[in-house]
Amino acid sequence: MILFSLLPGQDIGALSASRHVGSTILERLADGFSYECTCESFVDSGSGSKSADEHFSSWGAHQLTYLREGFMMVLSTRLPLIVQCLLSLFVTTSLSAPIIITRETFKTCRRGAFNGVPADCCPPKFIQGPIVDFSPKYNPSKPLRVRKALQCLTGKELTIYTEKLQRGYALMRALPDDDPRSFKRQNEIHCAYGTGPFIQNASANLTLDIHLNWFFLPWHRMFIYFHEKILQTLLKDPNFTLHFWNFDSSVTLSTSERPGCFKAGHFFPPMYLDPSKSTFEPNRTYRAFEPSRPVDLSFDATQWNPLGGVPPVFPNYTLEEQVWRNGATMYKSVVSSSNASSFIGKPFRAGDVQIVDPTIAAGNSEKWPHISVHMWIGGLMYLAQTSPRDPIFYHLHANVERIWDLWHKLGDGRADPSDPDWLDAEFLIWDEKKVMRRVKVRNVLDIKTLGDTFENVNDASWICFQNSTSTTPSNCSSTKTSMYQSRSDCHK
Ligand code: C2O
Repeated sequence: MILFSLLPGQDIGALSASRHVGSTILERLADGFSYECTCESFVDSGSGSKSADEHFSSWGAHQLTYLREGFMMVLSTRLPLIVQCLLSLFVTTSLSAPIIITRETFKTCRRGAFNGVPADCCPPKFIQGPIVDFSPKYNPSKPLRVRKALQCLTGKELTIYTEKLQRGYALMRALPDDDPRSFKRQNEIHCAYGTGPFIQNASANLTLDIHLNWFFLPWHRMFIYFHEKILQTLLKDPNFTLHFWNFDSSVTLSTSERPGCFKAGHFFPPMYLDPSKSTFEPNRTYRAFEPSRPVDLSFDATQWNPLGGVPPVFPNYTLEEQVWRNGATMYKSVVSSSNASSFIGKPFRAGDVQIVDPTIAAGNSEKWPHISVHMWIGGLMYLAQTSPRDPIFYHLHANVERIWDLWHKLGDGRADPSDPDWLDAEFLIWDEKKVMRRVKVRNVLDIKTLGDTFENVNDASWICFQNSTSTTPSNCSSTKTSMYQSRSDCHK
């Protein structure tokens, strides 16, 4: 079904704060007000279509009033806009070409918004100097850096890593704002790609967002790759590695016959909780500060539609129930997602209308556990315009990358898209030498070619989830298997 709404606002920026779903047309009127027309098309989100009433009931009362007033005020005078908006639902604008970010994209950067909060995060409008193509230089004879599970670092290794990480962020925070490697600018580039300030070249009104579609995984891999390079450069340590917060591991096993880390990692990493250090962030919710509270991966982003409104509620589950829910979530996200569209996300091509709604085009890799963890931490992590300002962002995303890698290893049709509109999409980002690099999606698909690999950890507790006859996944994980990297390893 189709729902139509018009939202009046103060200016284009505030308006795009109301971006919801479907096609959006902005028009600046003579009175200085602008109107956003949002034609929403409700689609089946997997558990049956939502009625408009159900959809509305998940909106805040404030948004409803806003919408009603806007509608009444505008209906009488803006008929042509309404017609144009409705028509746009039936016109396919996709050019079947990849999204390409150019100098022009930076030049036309404007104010964006996400979850109703405006975002002023345009990087400098003019890119100085050359743009250099990036292609990973894989040297099979060079040892890979091993990204490890934070919860298994102990003794000297833990002390050294914590010191380096905290020094790295202190150095990054101390860089001047005009340095693209600074902590502030790292946040800005994510914000520019993630809250609508960049627009597609073809049309002044088509935004582009690297969230909630098939760009989520490759864009963030590129971002984390250069972020890691910047930390290496600042620390003068080319082997420095961004380890991962292994939040999906809920069961501790004896490690005698398994190389790797087999310890539960579902607590907030303590190295981020020292208020005197650069890795601290005071705005996180109380949840992150409770040392024995496991993270809740089971918050369902699709129930929070459209994105925004009040922060979600996380009930207090017993440890056993939380472990069970987290296992079920991981299984649903990774094992049940048996094709690229479900795991990676749906296509987004040049000319497409951005859909800012997790129920429509986002892959399961993005929805759960990724969005759940952002929400669970809260504070700066709630919003795309601020989340990289909490340093835990990078360790969260390092784990998302590991889960992507694991998804490939599970096989059985779990493979990245072969569509050239995905592979040849191009992004621009500054590297560790402040040089602007042009990166194609195809350049970041294999973590090995970027020099990294992941320590083996206990994924069994959720890979085997469905096979478990118990209400907790512990049955599965206590079986004597070695690696648990494919379904056939379960219950050997
Ligand atoms: Cu761009 Cu975890 O988000």
